[in-house]
Amino acid sequence: METIKVFCPATIANISCGFDVLGVALDSVGDEMVVQKTSVKGIRISKLEGQDLPMETLQNVAGVAGLALLEASDYQGGFEIEIYKKIKAGSGIGSSAASSTGAVWAMNELLGKPFSTLELVKFSMEGERLASGVAHADNVAPALFGGFTLVRSYDPLDVVTIPSPNELFATVIHPQIEVKTSDSRKVLKNNISLADGIKQWGNVGGLVAGLFKDDYDLIGRSLEDHIIEPIRSILIPGFDDVKAAAIEAGALGCGISGSGPSIFSFSKGGETAQNVGEAMKRIYQDIGIDFDIHISKINSEGIKMM
Ligand code: HSE
Repeated sequence: METIKVFCPATIANISCGFDVLGVALDSVGDEMVVQKTSVKGIRISKLEGQDLPMETLQNVAGVAGLALLEASDYQGGFEIEIYKKIKAGSGIGSSAASSTGAVWAMNELLGKPFSTLELVKFSMEGERLASGVAHADNVAPALFGGFTLVRSYDPLDVVTIPSPNELFATVIHPQIEVKTSDSRKVLKNNISLADGIKQWGNVGGLVAGLFKDDYDLIGRSLEDHIIEPIRSILIPGFDDVKAAAIEAGALGCGISGSGPSIFSFSKGGETAQNVGEAMKRIYQDIGIDFDIHISKINSEGIKMM
């Protein structure tokens, strides 16, 4: 195989209580990429459609992640990459992660899979380092593994995959403002209180247990964030109203998707997820902010060939 076309899913990172450790892959929204082997060593981004992003290899997350893989490989040739962005940059649903993971996953397939999925996570994290200044793995891990993932440890890197209940749906609304992850990380405090820590790790454990047990109520009770949301939600217009409307419409829980400004809700069943979407939409229609909305099942396989 010399060329491959892949679907690279959007992802929700943090999932309220799990800052930098929890994430989930979505089904209905994602980028497309075409990756081709070439005899010229290195990575060339030959096409980038859909977003205004740099095409220079060292300025592009797919380029940087791809170079990390090439450095670890004994392959003597190179790759050309076409990127068709459907996920808006700065939307909070893993735009940079989709590009980094898509590049390394496709390259690995073309090379006959010399690297494990965990190694692909490490290469993709270099793209996240370029995009946000921090090599976080909570978007790239679910994009590569599919479903829900927990980064149990960064050093050494240890990623745990978590099953998803069949009827779990995500509704994500993206108010049309851009929030750079690097900026929304700068507003965070470096220290937390023991009292907040206790609440937060109780919820992380509860959410993981709820996903394993198909316990939708427990999932809902655990979708709380006592540390990051109170600070970051200030950057998102209408956040409290959107969250209240989502819960009122039947969502299990609601929070900031990644570093925002997108807001996600989880619901049991597609019909509730649609109703929740309508309720979230109405808030932005009333305050006159444009938005995109995505309603999606959980994507349990991650990146896939098209
Ligand atoms: N955990 C990261 C953050 C995710 O919240 O900054 C960015 O999408």
